Amino acid sequence: MNSFELRKKYLNFFKKRKHKEIPPASLVPENDSTTLFTSSGMQPIVPYLLGNTHPQGTRLVDSQPAFRTQDIEEIGDNRHTTFFEMLGNWSLGDYYKKEQLNWLWEFLTKELGLAKDRLCVSVFEGDKDIPQDVVSYQTWLKLGIPKDHIFFYGVKKNWWSRSGIPADMPIGEIGGPDSEVFYDFGEKWNLHKKSPWKAKECHPNCDCGRFLEIGNSVFIQYKKIEQDKLEELNQKNVDFGGGLERLLAAVNDMPDVFQTDLFIPLIRQIEKITNQKYREHPKEIQIIADHLKASVFLIKEGVYPSNKLQGYVLRRLLRRAALKMHFLQENSMRSLSELVEIVTQIYQGVYDFTPSEIENIKKIIFEEISKFENTIHSGLKLIDQMQRLSGKVAFDLYQTHGFPLELTIEIASEKGEKINQEEFNREFEKHKTLSRTSSAGIFKGGLANTEDKTIKLHTATHLLQASLRQILGNHVLQKGSNITSERLRFDFSHPQKLTEEELKQVENLVNTKIAADLPVNFSEMDKKEAIKSGALANFTQKYAEKVRVYSIGDFSKEICGGPHVVHTNELGKFHITKEESAGTGIRRIYGEIIS
Ligand code: SER
Repeated sequence: MNSFELRKKYLNFFKKRKHKEIPPASLVPENDSTTLFTSSGMQPIVPYLLGNTHPQGTRLVDSQPAFRTQDIEEIGDNRHTTFFEMLGNWSLGDYYKKEQLNWLWEFLTKELGLAKDRLCVSVFEGDKDIPQDVVSYQTWLKLGIPKDHIFFYGVKKNWWSRSGIPADMPIGEIGGPDSEVFYDFGEKWNLHKKSPWKAKECHPNCDCGRFLEIGNSVFIQYKKIEQDKLEELNQKNVDFGGGLERLLAAVNDMPDVFQTDLFIPLIRQIEKITNQKYREHPKEIQIIADHLKASVFLIKEGVYPSNKLQGYVLRRLLRRAALKMHFLQENSMRSLSELVEIVTQIYQGVYDFTPSEIENIKKIIFEEISKFENTIHSGLKLIDQMQRLSGKVAFDLYQTHGFPLELTIEIASEKGEKINQEEFNREFEKHKTLSRTSSAGIFKGGLANTEDKTIKLHTATHLLQASLRQILGNHVLQKGSNITSERLRFDFSHPQKLTEEELKQVENLVNTKIAADLPVNFSEMDKKEAIKSGALANFTQKYAEKVRVYSIGDFSKEICGGPHVVHTNELGKFHITKEESAGTGIRRIYGEIIS
């Protein structure tokens, strides 16, 4: 079975069970300051898991491209990838545990034909505040799963929220107990013979390579309301996610996701370019294939290599892939851009790339790698000359040659010696604390969609677009939007810099509409009907057939998922803080609300 067949089987299976297929969300979420990337299928669904009505109803299914930065260090084994496709189905307060587990079992064993005795499941064992998941346990037993294939784990393994265990969830975050399914590739794949974990016998959640998690049913029924306090949500939800690449590996009884049709053409081409064999250098080739594929999808979504946020992650992926190419074959790193077309061919018919998109992605990768190549030689020479690679030297390399610390560590470990390990670890720990703090910073606002300030700025963004169109003309259309609890950032089409006078007029118009206390309403309608009614759509985004249209009095009408304030006078005073270029024919405005 190939990836196309599997994806289709899954979507059809749930569509037959009254689920509506929804289009995938962007890999880089708009209007959500809490996170850099869409890292699971549930992320765009959060408002509906919290109780907002979804225009498509209470049963949804999709296939969502996802990207997980936390997995970057893990790449280089049979099952981790930063970019992956997550098959997802949701019940928004509709069916619950029994239906979900029954359907999932039917899908895995009948539709995909996985052997029952090769499947194991896990169930939440409970902790001091949250009860054991008895219903899931009983349901699995009724389905005929023997007791010795059902494993109980605590919050670390069988609790799911975007931020992990209950204690780490910020206020407003949702989560719940989950039940995972694992495919057992058999003893021969227990590479370490024992679990490397606490020297225990091998078990589904150990990391030995024998078991592969292929699906996770999360029962989202809690919301964090205070430190140490979870509250039951009014609606009990199911959030299922299954990695397409992993399901494919299980169906083909081959534990290496890199040997599925979603990777094989890439691996073959990397072998060709570097003149090395996958079976001799699996780790390096896995890293190159994963990072390059992820980069292609990130650039398609408008991310450029830079030193900030998403751009920095992209830069790190490209540089790491380039270094691995260099180690496999000197002077081969520029050929990374030749792999772009192979990625686009793998996904042809599912995620289509236009010829100009392909050219643009190739160009961006080529330029980034060329810049890096110029610094890498001097950096490597410096490392070669070192008697001892201290943490301080690593930092200098970072500052002067743009070598991220983790790349230097990698080069040092390729070279084997020369590292004062203790000193290095100290520097590394400092660095890790720093990156943890900066990613915690990104999460600090809690859920953007539920924070008052963010919601206000979201409504202000609609007023801003309508005002820009009134003052500058109807050629103004949204090209991008990013809202944090501190400010809005709005990109729009317009050929030249706005004058002081124009900026003042736009700001005044937004403030007049705020003062007019206009009501904010929404209605649900077919996409075509919405566009016909004059609602503005953002054509860089895919919409479902049924959409929500938000109106602010008679002044603004946009297709939008919300949320928004109810009346504009809740907003306070709007102030434009900056106007600048965001590319050819695109301007960018930053604005804030002064309460
Ligand atoms: N949200 C869960 C996950 O990402 C299941 O969809 O694993």
